[in-house]
Amino acid sequence: MAFTIGVPRETQQGETRVALIPSVAERMRKTLDGVEVRVEEGAGAQAYHDDAAYEAAGCETVDRDDVFAADVLAKVAPPSSDEVARLSEGQTIVGFLSPLDRPDTARRLATAGVTSLAMELVPRISRAQNMDALSAMSSLGGYRATIRAAEQLPKFFPLLTTAAGTIRPAQVLVLGAGVAGLQAIATAKRLGAKVFGYDIRDATQEEVESLGATFVELTVDIGDQEDEGGYAKELEKEKQERQPELLQPHIADADVVISTALIPGRPAPLLINEAAVDAMDAGSVIVDLAAANGGNCVHTEAGATTRVSDVTILGPTNLPAEMPVHASQLYAKTVSSLIEAFSEDGRFTPDFDDEIVDEACLTHAGEVRNERVRGLLTEEA
Ligand code: NAI
Repeated sequence: MAFTIGVPRETQQGETRVALIPSVAERMRKTLDGVEVRVEEGAGAQAYHDDAAYEAAGCETVDRDDVFAADVLAKVAPPSSDEVARLSEGQTIVGFLSPLDRPDTARRLATAGVTSLAMELVPRISRAQNMDALSAMSSLGGYRATIRAAEQLPKFFPLLTTAAGTIRPAQVLVLGAGVAGLQAIATAKRLGAKVFGYDIRDATQEEVESLGATFVELTVDIGDQEDEGGYAKELEKEKQERQPELLQPHIADADVVISTALIPGRPAPLLINEAAVDAMDAGSVIVDLAAANGGNCVHTEAGATTRVSDVTILGPTNLPAEMPVHASQLYAKTVSSLIEAFSEDGRFTPDFDDEIVDEACLTHAGEVRNERVRGLLTEEA
């Protein structure tokens, strides 16, 4: 018998996205022969998909209890304690599970016999690109960060030559040139700013320059920190201490700093110290996309806006939720692709010989399968 997919209403504060949108649900019903999609009443409302749109796409709209009785739950935000308690043996949950930040959730899911697929654990290989929710969301975050900065800055971004005088373009510095950083750079360029990019990985120089921005090189050899997965390794302690000091003059020259530097599973590196903020012009803006992980700026408060030395520091924690239409559209595509990778002939049958299935599966058959998360749980015990 084909399986059922449940799409609950997201309950985390500020979450507007929905895990499956009507068009993607409709396509899944066709590709996964006989699969049923049950959507909680109002689940898509904040992403502008009403119940009628889901019903027109062949989904059933049901209450919360019925949605949580589905075989596979498609979620966006990590499950709340109450949501975990609703799941039982044999069920599967797919979504962002914050496995490294919430190892306890993994333990509870494993103990309950729930199979869980973490979007964060999808390997970053070409075959899994259509399941890469992290990249999809980072791209939205980078775009939105630039828009937010432009909105806050008491200046123009572009060069303007007017009868009333000439306006020099704003100077934007983007720290961390991963997916979010590159999108922030591209957006700031389109708005006409003079853009600079910096990353610890040398390989990003070409990407920064290909977007028309200038790569900031720090005049000390801190090595190429790229590892196999494309992530920066944590810098050695003393090198980390020098980085903020070396970046300081570049930050001081900028009207806007967008910081996106992250190290998976670790606190975000500190790149913008007190002295750097003090050295910025009054009215300057910092958008710290690493806020949820501790921030790249010493003054960042997650989820809040602070003002220090007349510099506005934004610490947004969920920018994709400010663009729920496209965020849900892209996210739904990644979730549906992952569910499809776990299914065959309309049956949900994970094949652990497949690298994607093997790595993305956080818990199965009563066990936490991810080694790093197991390590965290052992440390805790
Ligand atoms: P991320 O969000 O984990 O980190 C953002 C950026 O911060 C990274 O570029 C990282 O090098 C940088 N960073 C870390 N510590 C830093 C420090 N102390 N100073 C300055 N910068 C620092 O990374 P994201 O955006 O998720 O991915 C990074 C890279 O991974 C991509 O640019 C790409 O090369 C690779 N990737 C590969 C994919 C694939 O093969 N399918 C898909 C997505 C990403």
